[in-house]
Amino acid sequence: MTNPDIKNPRAEHNFVGRTCSITAVGSYVPKKVLTNAALEELVDTNDEWIITRTGIRERRIAADDEYTSDLGAKAAKIALERANVDPADVDLIILATITPDMPFPATACLVQEKIGAFNSAAFDVEAACSGFVYALEIGQQFIMSRTYNTVLVIGAEKLSSITDWQDRNTCVLFGDGAGAAVLQSRENSHGLLTACMGADGRKASILSQPGGGSLHPACGQSVTDRLHYLRMDGQEVFKNAVTAMTKAAKEALARCELEVSQIKCIIPHQANMRILKAVGDRLGASEEQVFSNLQKYGNTSAASVAIALDEAVQQGRVQRGDLILLLVFGAGLTWGAAVIEW
Ligand code: UT7
Repeated sequence: MTNPDIKNPRAEHNFVGRTCSITAVGSYVPKKVLTNAALEELVDTNDEWIITRTGIRERRIAADDEYTSDLGAKAAKIALERANVDPADVDLIILATITPDMPFPATACLVQEKIGAFNSAAFDVEAACSGFVYALEIGQQFIMSRTYNTVLVIGAEKLSSITDWQDRNTCVLFGDGAGAAVLQSRENSHGLLTACMGADGRKASILSQPGGGSLHPACGQSVTDRLHYLRMDGQEVFKNAVTAMTKAAKEALARCELEVSQIKCIIPHQANMRILKAVGDRLGASEEQVFSNLQKYGNTSAASVAIALDEAVQQGRVQRGDLILLLVFGAGLTWGAAVIEW
């Protein structure tokens, strides 16, 4: 028998009537533009190859003294302002990244300091390019359980800090940036309807940054062996990305009993235009439904769908009440799909 003298806070949780909405989004990209033409000076590549194989025309690169926490803090401030939320009222900050300012403390704590959200808990999520959807789902659980009222979710990356600028297979693909979302319960909206997440650790080696952890701690040899840079088997990642995002999308739509035609805007992880097209085709979506901005920013990992969501909203591609499908895929392997009533 439970002890009646012990108060169980969870007994007060009541999901009925509770929803979790994104009340505002914001994003920030660094000023410096790195064009395909500029990359031709660095490695044996060319504008035509990059555009036809990836769709990317340029990407943003953070300044030497601009870090992941700076990018995240700038995006967060914009989102909080738009949501009309005082930083002091943020209960929790969840930041998704694979390029933290340092292994610890969490970049979320560094962002907390930069935005002055001193009443919040803060931690990082590492699910690579899938991180923003993972973080949204975690944040949503805290809102639905009534543990917190306001959760700030951020995807932020300074991928230029782990890019091997001698490897043409990867250095043309990535960029820096950040996006943020404010999660709150809002009346008259279902908000985040569902999120399907998955992972397959058997394929961990096809996309990784091998050095810097307990497996290959930083040392002279790890630097010589270039273990601190991102490595990728592009073709394997490509195939897995198409399959996993398509499957996750179908599962998420089925859970909500929705057809793809009912989705106003599909926002996939901005990795490669050919991946976006293949996923859109497999889902039976029209070209207009699939949002892309990777021509401007390249692949910004955990920031990718967060920046894209913000741009879709600012451009009026989605209005309140519209249905959005977020699709993500990344190292782990990890993947996910989220259906949102905007
Ligand atoms: O964020 C996580 C998700 N990441 C992704 O989804 C990335 C997924 N992968 C991809 O987007 C593509 O696989 C890449 C864009 C990375 C590569 O495209 P691909 O069509 O798979 O090309 P490939 O790797 O098969 O390479 C074809 C050729 C090779 O030359 P050979 O062996 O045929 O002579 C490469 O060496 O293209 C060459 N190549 C380049 N040429 C000029 C590779 N990179 C470059 C380059 N410029 N930057």
